[in-house]
Amino acid sequence: MAKKSEIAPQAHRPRTLSLFPRKEASAITSSASNGCQPNALSNSKPLSIAPEGHVHVLLITTGSVASVKAPLIVGELFKYSNVKVQVASTNNSLTFFDRNQVTQHEGVQVWTDEDEWQAWSKIGDPILHIELRRWADVVLIAPCDANTLSKIANGMCDNLVTSLLRALAPTTPTFVFPAMNTLMYEHPLTAVHLKTIEEVIGYKVIGPIGKGLACGDVGVGAMTEWRDIVTLVVDQFHLTKQVKQVESGSG
Ligand SMILES: Cc1cc2nc3c(=O)[nH]c(=O)nc-3n(C[C@H](O)[C@H](O)[C@H](O)COP(=O)(O)O)c2cc1C
Repeated sequence: MAKKSEIAPQAHRPRTLSLFPRKEASAITSSASNGCQPNALSNSKPLSIAPEGHVHVLLITTGSVASVKAPLIVGELFKYSNVKVQVASTNNSLTFFDRNQVTQHEGVQVWTDEDEWQAWSKIGDPILHIELRRWADVVLIAPCDANTLSKIANGMCDNLVTSLLRALAPTTPTFVFPAMNTLMYEHPLTAVHLKTIEEVIGYKVIGPIGKGLACGDVGVGAMTEWRDIVTLVVDQFHLTKQVKQVESGSG
């Protein structure tokens, strides 16, 4: 069995990375996860997890205003017992939510480009984008803005988010939730990029949906409702609701 990768804390690090030791082996099994075939999860068959296992959900946020939903997604996932959550964010996406609302949940951190470069000073130090992709059982890119979509489709890896996606095993289920202005969505390159990430990389694209957008336009381009994103993970990975402790001794 492979030895767990330990990350020794160092004085210059802003925070401990003790989340990683990585998982020894993914608790997730799926019929598509043998070998290196893209795993688009295009069928609706639920994946199964080992009974004792936690599903490691890596939420990626990008510079769409729909990143305001990140705390809601994390908070809702925390109502389930067999799940662990980490967040990796582009710098622009941090404009849209208060990191404290995410990190208030035990063990959750919002990882950024700054962390990537501060974590490494010499050979043998952990490389954050690799540790995150090892950790993840499932990746949600929610929201996926036009810029990051374009970068992924073109193989770019110039920040934490795109580096970890480029390093991700093709067997790791990855769901993309586009969110952009209607005209950005209708731009001919968007269709090309979405086709590429589905057919070449094997990601599953969900949405966008039509509604009144934050910019004032009405049309297709909004991120799938955040509750539907959580429901997708709950259903696919058989998440179980936390059992609330009932107070005893009263009456
Ligand atoms: C207030 C505001 C809202 C934005 N909303 C979106 C959006 O919903 N979708 C999108 O594709 N770009 C949106 N953008 C533009 C992106 O933030 C911009 O393309 C940025 O470079 C994305 O960087 P990132 O992909 O590294 O996060 C918005 C920009 C601003 C200032």
